[in-house]
Amino acid sequence: MASLPPEILAATLAADHPKIAALAASIDARAGHGRPVERERALLADLIERSRERRAARLARLPRPDFPEELPIAQHRERIAALIRGHPITIVSGETGSGKTTQIPKICLTLERGAAGLIGCTQPRRIAARSLAHRLAQELPGAPRAFVGHKIRFQDATRPETVLKVMTDGILLAETHSDRELRAYDTIIVDEAHERSLNVDFLLGYMKRLVKIRPELKVIVTSATIDTERFSQFFDGAPVIEVSGRTYPVEVRYRPEFFERESPLDGVAGKAEDDEPVEMAINAARSQVLFRLKTVEVVATLIQGTFPNYSQLIPQSYASRAEIDMKQFLQETRIAAILARAKALDAEGKTPKCTQAVTETKLLLGLE
Ligand SMILES: Nc1ncnc2c1ncn2[C@@H]1O[C@H](COP(=O)(O)OP(=O)(O)OP(=O)(O)O)[C@@H](O)[C@H]1O
Ligand SMILES: [Mg+2]
Repeated sequence: MASLPPEILAATLAADHPKIAALAASIDARAGHGRPVERERALLADLIERSRERRAARLARLPRPDFPEELPIAQHRERIAALIRGHPITIVSGETGSGKTTQIPKICLTLERGAAGLIGCTQPRRIAARSLAHRLAQELPGAPRAFVGHKIRFQDATRPETVLKVMTDGILLAETHSDRELRAYDTIIVDEAHERSLNVDFLLGYMKRLVKIRPELKVIVTSATIDTERFSQFFDGAPVIEVSGRTYPVEVRYRPEFFERESPLDGVAGKAEDDEPVEMAINAARSQVLFRLKTVEVVATLIQGTFPNYSQLIPQSYASRAEIDMKQFLQETRIAAILARAKALDAEGKTPKCTQAVTETKLLLGLE
């Protein structure tokens, strides 16, 4: 595609650029051969004008997001925005809970991204894609209907009016077959790039090529604090912004007795009253809730057959069963009790990660 002037690229829909460029090129060619070009010029002006109007209409519908100031990323908002504005590819790294996944799409909106095409956010897993779409919709209360949509295998929950599209990385990769330059998008966020799945690696390679073809495209790659230098090198020195700080302590616990019938949560409430500071009890409960919910996610993912590698994490009694009776599974893992406890913890306003995990689990178990 011949290059278009930056002001045209900025004012029109990404999807229209190839058509506009092709018409402009044919006008040049005709003019070079001394043939009349008035009609073509009028067509071109009309094409640009209609595209401009459609972009402006999309722009007018973009909501103005609010940012929770308590998230570490909030303090870096302006710098992140400036980097995205000034570079085709930006790498954002930060510890878990710093707000990368939930806030970057909103930062993109403040930059008027989403006006010239979709803002695509990839997630490594289907459940994460659905849950992020859910969360973004909650965080954008002023957005028009269906503004946030998601697409995962077997389920396309996007509408023509969708602007923020959350999907698995596999879906975006698949879309490259029908939309080779991903013209439907004006911004692409590859989240959790440190997971380095085959899909992510392919996507990163694709993005590197794409920004050379599409100067107006913005790509944001997010990663845990590892590997950022390598990502930067791969993208020819793309800027890295580190969003440090976490909002709560992360504790990883491994419990071989996990599937025992006694729930480790049973005594937590009592403990809080008896001999432990409330804070500590909440922390203990939270990490157990999180761990359990995470395991449920892993088990369910295993059932769906997506990540057979996780099989070693599943207790033998479950791993050896071809099919898991969901009712029995719910009883044995006492998910209902856990959800109730997590809800109670949330009511105290101290466990936003629990809400997230509960949302994910409910979606996963088809309870929502
Ligand atoms: N569905 C949800 N419900 C409630 N709170 C949520 C939800 N999703 C995220 N949060 C909260 O928003 C904050 C930011 O989360 P976010 O997922 O954006 O962080 P992150 O930097 O992407 O973390 P990670 O590295 O774990 O992916 C966290 O405190 C999290 O608990
Ligand atoms: Mg994240």
